[in-house]
Amino acid sequence: MKTVGVWDSGVGGLSVLRALLAELPEVRFIYVADSACAPYGGHSAELVTERALRISAALLARTPLDAMVVACNTATAGAIDALRARYATLPVVGVEPALKPAAQASRTGHVGVLATRGTLTSRRYADLVSRTEAAYPHVRFSSQACEGLADAIELADLPAVARLCHKAWTSLHQQSPERPPIDQLVLGCTHYPFARAELERLCGPQVQLVDPAVAVARQARRVLLLPARTPMALDVHLAVEWLDTGNSLALESAARQWIHREAKVETLPV
Ligand code: DGL
Repeated sequence: MKTVGVWDSGVGGLSVLRALLAELPEVRFIYVADSACAPYGGHSAELVTERALRISAALLARTPLDAMVVACNTATAGAIDALRARYATLPVVGVEPALKPAAQASRTGHVGVLATRGTLTSRRYADLVSRTEAAYPHVRFSSQACEGLADAIELADLPAVARLCHKAWTSLHQQSPERPPIDQLVLGCTHYPFARAELERLCGPQVQLVDPAVAVARQARRVLLLPARTPMALDVHLAVEWLDTGNSLALESAARQWIHREAKVETLPV
């Protein structure tokens, strides 16, 4: 049986784990929330890289892994190169804002991107924007950092989630009022799919929300060299192992709410 480690700063990676469980029911998953150092979005790339290396080392010391999924855009932007350099033989799958699928789907040619400051100020993101704009010359991206939104989702603070989504959506429009209306909104942080209902309400039916979780899960199947999913495999439901570097309450309640699992969380001392 294959074992895959999945981690994020907190509960956001559950949006990726949900897709992984659906795509790879025959795989055993270990989920780590680095709540002791959350949120990552305002940290330097150096600090995020240090955490990424420490969490990966702690996970691998516990169990041999067949692959690792960095279920966090901020950590992918800051640390995936360092992780791949350190663990050359371990497949490491990251999560990046899904600019290409959004550009492909956009009719108006204006795509909005919501992500953390860490992701949006990274070299990796700047390269992704230039590559995608070069490949889709009719498309322009407006990007907005959502300070505090991951935290509000972590705390399940619904009034704050509503207020911060409204602020982000308004700021996106104020950035470039001369552009045509946004018709694709990229969720560039794995926490944001848990604000989907609020965002859909704000944006209206003409805007499509773009979440890369399913594509990430398919990529995980590819790197694990597993054959295509069979309908029979859907009946298997393996237990997830849950770890948290800090307070596990948010993880327990988010696992129950978002993926309908009772999480017995152990502490990972990192
Ligand atoms: N969920 C993470 C991401 O995808 C980070 C949120 C945070 O800790 O700031 O970027």
